[in-house]
Amino acid sequence: MSEADPVCPARFGGDPARDDRKSAAIAAANVHAEPGADVINSFGFARDVLRSAAFVQAGAGAEHVKMDNPEHVSVFFLDGELHKKRRSQLARYFTPKAIKERHTKVMDRTTAELIADLRRTGEAKLDVMSLRLASDVAAEIVGLTATNQQAMAERLRKVFMSMSAPTKGIGKWLGAVNTFYRVMTFYWRDVVPAVRARRKAPQDDVISYCVQEKYPNKGILIECMTYATAGMLTTREFIVMVAWHLFENDDLREIFLTGGEDVQFGILDEILRLEPVAAMLHRRAAEDFTGPAGQQVKAGELYAINMRAVNVDPAVAGACPFTLDPDRGKRQKIAGSWMSFGDGPHRCPGSQVALHETRVFIDALLRVPGIRLAKTPTIGWCAPIMGYEVHGAVVMCDKG
Ligand code: HEM
Repeated sequence: MSEADPVCPARFGGDPARDDRKSAAIAAANVHAEPGADVINSFGFARDVLRSAAFVQAGAGAEHVKMDNPEHVSVFFLDGELHKKRRSQLARYFTPKAIKERHTKVMDRTTAELIADLRRTGEAKLDVMSLRLASDVAAEIVGLTATNQQAMAERLRKVFMSMSAPTKGIGKWLGAVNTFYRVMTFYWRDVVPAVRARRKAPQDDVISYCVQEKYPNKGILIECMTYATAGMLTTREFIVMVAWHLFENDDLREIFLTGGEDVQFGILDEILRLEPVAAMLHRRAAEDFTGPAGQQVKAGELYAINMRAVNVDPAVAGACPFTLDPDRGKRQKIAGSWMSFGDGPHRCPGSQVALHETRVFIDALLRVPGIRLAKTPTIGWCAPIMGYEVHGAVVMCDKG
């Protein structure tokens, strides 16, 4: 990590005010911390808090999770030794070997099907394509493979749509009922058949592990919903966001298409730095803590890590922090380490899976003859993950 560079690189016209973030306005209007939380905007302090064992998971309903049988609680809500044990069990689904030998096959197969459909019809909705890909890849890790994948992606799309219901008044109440109905449909149509199949013939996936550990079906549903939101919803939004940037920025697209994989991953990292899908992470201090810069934290205090702010902290991002600069990661010696996947024990286990599937899909999409963005997405807000959603983008290409 280098000190902030006071000079903006000339390639950006030396304009320190340039802001390439598409999600800046929607986030400014919607990002908020939980009541009573102190907001952290400094990259260094955020990293210390997320890495420290003195803090536990908070926000996103963590305070209401029943811990009477912690063995059956989603990994997201666990802390300490139980969390460590569960993460070490999960680790094998996310190794470079698993990505290369297992998940890349799913990424390649689904991408090929989606591109073939696009070429046949000459037109496709980008968020439908990206959800199908994110859902196929995560479903294989979870073991949700007993039912038709396209139909399951559609059921999950309806779950996610219901989660964006109004957050006030009768709309909020109706939205909650609709979400419950959609989740239960997903449960009966996809989760129950998967559990039955895994009971008969266990595989190397999350549901087989849950069955072996005798999770109740409710626990398995919670685990599936964790992956659906943490793995599918996030990746769907990220893929569309990447496509949007690359369709609109000819220079960047050229660099992406002519660069090797490292260059392509560097561009994805930089887009995710500017456009983190989840905007806030919360942690509560379980004990008193003194930060390396002398920050005093008392047990019980709640903190909100503002991912959008820490990623543009000039102390790590350097000059022109709001500019999309594909060389930034290398220059600042922080490639792959921005905060958009979190940090510390809860850091996203699926980060490499998400980056690989995005790279494979976007590379194939941008090489389709005559490909163009016929309709730009509209940007909205998904309250449950406190992140943006980009919907309605349509791509068109030459038929063939
Ligand atoms: C661009 C896509 C993605 C983004 C931006 C993202 C972001 C994150 C973040 C910020 C966290 C940390 C939450 C916290 O510290 O409280 C997280 C956790 C998690 N992510 Fe991801 N994620 C993505 C894709 C995936 C994928 C593809 C999977 C799996 C297939 C996945 C599975 C998980 C799980 C299981 C956790 C909980 C880990 C724990 O609590 O120990 N994510 N993700």
